[in-house]
Amino acid sequence: MKSVIIGFGGALPQKCIKNDELPASLNTSDEWISQRTGIKQRYVIGEGESTSTLSTKAAKDALDHAKISPNDIDLIIVGTTTGDYTFPATACVVQKNLGITNGCPAFDVSAACSGFIYSLDVADSFIKAGRAKYALVIGADCFSKILDWNDRSSCVLFGDGAGAVVLKAEEDADKGIQYCKTYADGSYTDYLVTSGGVSTTQGAGVVTMKGREVFKFAVEKFCDTFHELLKKNNLNVEDVDLIIPHQANVRIINKLIDVLKIDPKKVVVTIDKHSNTSAATIPLALNEIKDSIGTNKNVVLLSMGAGFTWGSILIRM
Ligand code: UT7
Repeated sequence: MKSVIIGFGGALPQKCIKNDELPASLNTSDEWISQRTGIKQRYVIGEGESTSTLSTKAAKDALDHAKISPNDIDLIIVGTTTGDYTFPATACVVQKNLGITNGCPAFDVSAACSGFIYSLDVADSFIKAGRAKYALVIGADCFSKILDWNDRSSCVLFGDGAGAVVLKAEEDADKGIQYCKTYADGSYTDYLVTSGGVSTTQGAGVVTMKGREVFKFAVEKFCDTFHELLKKNNLNVEDVDLIIPHQANVRIINKLIDVLKIDPKKVVVTIDKHSNTSAATIPLALNEIKDSIGTNKNVVLLSMGAGFTWGSILIRM
C-alpha cells in the first residue's frame, strides 16, 4: 500500500511585512536580514486569522485540488506547536470547519519545524496499516504570536502560514511515499525552546534560540539524513529530481547544496517570500511548485526543528 499525494494546498495571512517595514526600534536592516538569512518578507496573522483558519483554508485548497469531498477524509493530522487552543487539537477545529461529520480521528503532532514531516510519517503508517484511505495532512504555525518582538535575533526570522496535502491509499502504486525516517534528540531541548508553557508559566512563552548551534546541527542532519535516504533506497544523488528542505536560513540551504554537490536548480527555496513558517515551510513549498513537479520524479523532503527533531521523506510523484 502506498500513500499517494493527490492534492496540495496553502494559505498565508493577508498582512505581509517586508524587511524595511519592520519597526525602527529593532535596529535591524533589510541588508542584514537578506544577507544573513535570505528572508525578504514574512506574513503575519491579523484580526480573525489563526492557525486553524489558515489550516482550514489550506485544507480546502488541497481538497479542491484532489477533487474529493471533505467527508471522504478519514484521518486529519495537523503538525503544529501554535494551535488556537491548548486543547482541543487544531485538527478537531479543522474537522468542524470543513463540515466533516464521519467521526474520523483528528489530532495534532508536536514536532516544531519538523511537524509536517512527522505528521506525514504518521499518516503514511495509518495508510500502510489499512486504517485510512484518504488522509488530510497539514503543517501550520503562527510563530508571530510566540515571538519576542523586541529581540531582533529571532523575531525577523519567522512568519505565519499553513500548507496541506491529501494522501490517498493506493495498492501496487509505483508512486507515492517510498520512505520516511524521523529522529529526535532531547538532549538539545534547551537550544531552541519557548521561555514557558502551560505547566510551567501557564502562558506559551516566547521563542529563544542558540542560533549558531542550531545552524550547525541543521546542516549536519540535513546532510546525514539525505545520505542515509540515498543508501536505503539505492539511489545516487543524480537520481533525486527535487529537494525541499525546511526553510530556516538560505545559508543553511546553500551549505547543503555545497556538501551534497547537488544542482542548485533541484533545491526549492521559498524563504525569501515566506520566511520561516515552522511546520508550514515544506507543505507551502510543495504547494508553490505543484504545477511544475511533473511525474516520475523523486522528491526529497528534509526537516530539522526544536527538540531537536529531524527527518527525511522520499516521495515518487
Ligand atoms: O526553524 C528552526 C531552525 N532554526 C534555524 O535553523 C536557525 C539557525 N540559525 C540561523 O539561521 C542563524 O544563526 C541566525 C540567522 C539566527 C543568526 O545569524 P548568525 O550569522 O549566526 O548571526 P549571529 O547570531 O552570530 O550574530 C551576528 C551579529 C551579532 O552582532 P555582533 O555581536 O557581531 O555585534 C548580532 O547581534 O549580528 C547581530 N544581529 C543582527 N543585526 C541586525 C543578530 N540579529 C540581527 C538583526 N539585525 N536582525
